[in-house]
Amino acid sequence: MERKSITINYIQTNISELNNQDRELLFQAEKSIDNSYSPYSHFKVGSAILLSNGQYVRGANQENSAYPSGLCAERVALFSWGTNYSDNNVVAIAICAKNINGEFCLAYPCGSCLQVMVETEIRTKEKIRFLVQINDLKVEIFEGVESLLPFSFSL
Ligand code: THU
Repeated sequence: MERKSITINYIQTNISELNNQDRELLFQAEKSIDNSYSPYSHFKVGSAILLSNGQYVRGANQENSAYPSGLCAERVALFSWGTNYSDNNVVAIAICAKNINGEFCLAYPCGSCLQVMVETEIRTKEKIRFLVQINDLKVEIFEGVESLLPFSFSL
C-alpha cells in the first residue's frame, strides 16, 4: 500500500495589491454580476475571462424555474468563449459573487465548472490563471485550475 498526497499552492492577497491586469479582470467579473438572472437563489455570480488578445468574455449565472436548466456564471462565459472567441486562448478567469444583501461572498467554482475549466486548459494546452474573490478586500489566485480538480475526468 502506498499513501499519496496532493498539495495545492495558491496566493491570498489584498485586492488593492493586484496588478492592473488582474484588477481589471476582477472588475469585469464584478460588472457581470449585474447580468445575473437569479430570482430563485438570489445569489449573484459574475465571471470574466481574459483572452490572449486582451478582450474579455463575461458570464453571469442564469437560473430557470426548472432548476437544473440554469447554468453557472463560469460555464456561461466558457461556453460563450468556445462558441464565439476560441481563436484566442483563455489567459485568466475571475469569479466573484454577491448575496441577497449585495455583500461580496466566497464562491469557489462547482465541480462541473472546474471540469469545463480543466478541459479548456487541456484543449488550449495553456494553464489558466484563476482568481476568486473572497470578500470585499481579499482575492485568491491559482496558477492553473488543474490543482482544484486533480482527478478530473478525461477520455
Ligand atoms: N453558481 C455559479 O454561478 N457558479 C458556481 O460555481 C457555483 C454556483 C450559481 C448557480 C446558482 O444560480 C447559484 O449560484 C446558487 O447556487
